[in-house]
Amino acid sequence: MNSEFPPALFITGTDTEVGKTVVSAILVAGLTAEYWKPVQSGANAGTDTAWIKEKTGLPDSFFHPETYILSHFLSPHAAAFREGIRIDISAMTAPTRRQSSHLIIEGAGGILTPLTETETIADLIIQLHIPVLLVARSGLGTINHTLLSLEKLRRIGADVLGVVMNGPQDPENRKAIETFGNIRVCAEIGPIPEISPESLSETFRSCFRLCELALDISKRYR
Ligand SMILES: Nc1ncnc2c1ncn2[C@@H]1O[C@H](COP(=O)(O)OP(=O)(O)O)[C@@H](O)[C@H]1O
Ligand SMILES: [Mg+2]
Repeated sequence: MNSEFPPALFITGTDTEVGKTVVSAILVAGLTAEYWKPVQSGANAGTDTAWIKEKTGLPDSFFHPETYILSHFLSPHAAAFREGIRIDISAMTAPTRRQSSHLIIEGAGGILTPLTETETIADLIIQLHIPVLLVARSGLGTINHTLLSLEKLRRIGADVLGVVMNGPQDPENRKAIETFGNIRVCAEIGPIPEISPESLSETFRSCFRLCELALDISKRYR
């Protein structure tokens, strides 16, 4: 079943704090995948890499070092400016997998979050050329944010595999996103009371295992 997922997935979101790291952790635990966060800002408050390492319990070798770590809790372009760091995405490539069949890459913020004075996460998605999963909140406001994000992803030619809705299930919002967005909601992740290697793997099994995403991808990436 694991082989049915593509070798690399880029996890983006409709906003910051929508659950990109939690969804990444579910995929890392469920697929025993490697993880890479190319640009981390707000590192003073902890990094997503450290959080996923702790919650999945996987060894260090599953985690690739961030290309840019910024201390300030700001948009990467602003944090980099304050810290005198120049982010250069033109040469960025995904790290080579060391031991797993899968690599999960987590963006920063949303699709139009600036990385430099002229470039955003959208440019990084194009540069890396990796299929995308869009994480969205399940509740009020998500339809507009998700449809706008999908529109941008399609305009830049990204390969959008589906939307992951995070939060208490909301069938009406799901239906609106699928219909207006002409996209598949490939998983709905409810609140996880206690995040642990076991609950992450269990969430993967219950939310992703039977999703059409895996079946579709198996046809496209074989
Ligand atoms: N399904 C969930 N169950 C439990 N906690 C969640 C869930 N989704 C998000 N959270 C919590 O909400 C916060 C924001 O999620 P996070 O994954 O860090 O967002 P992002 O990476 O998009 O900024 C974190 O504290 C995270 O642990
Ligand atoms: Mg995150």
